[in-house]
Amino acid sequence: MDPLITAALEAREHAHAPFSHFKVGAALEAFDGRIITGCNIENATLGLSLCAERVAVFKALSEGVRHFRRVVVVTADTETLTPPCGACRQILWEFCGDAELTMANLAGKAETLSLGQIFPRPFDSSFL
Ligand code: THU
Repeated sequence: MDPLITAALEAREHAHAPFSHFKVGAALEAFDGRIITGCNIENATLGLSLCAERVAVFKALSEGVRHFRRVVVVTADTETLTPPCGACRQILWEFCGDAELTMANLAGKAETLSLGQIFPRPFDSSFL
């Protein structure tokens, strides 16, 4: 299996999802080969919950990792693969650009697209 999918699957095990019971794992591959992972972390207010993708991006940035070539998101064991939510698409776009995005299920079924394909006409710093 793709080691980035394996990393996302392992991160998913750490998900804190007592409210939705929907566990998500994400893994970023930096251009220097480093892999940074994240899981979703829910909270009793619900609104303060964070998605796995944003946890991974913010972890990476805080560790000085800034340039990514691939993103993997692993969610449920469903045939239909789950794409990142709108908020995560924005953050992924701003920090990963038109990187390769792989969505995978627990069995390893995967589909790869570019971020630009799922997030057309993005708002970013070029408009500021
Ligand atoms: N979730 C993610 O971690 N990533 C997404 O892109 C979609 C949603 C999480 C947030 C929440 O903890 C749970 O999945 C249900 O929405």
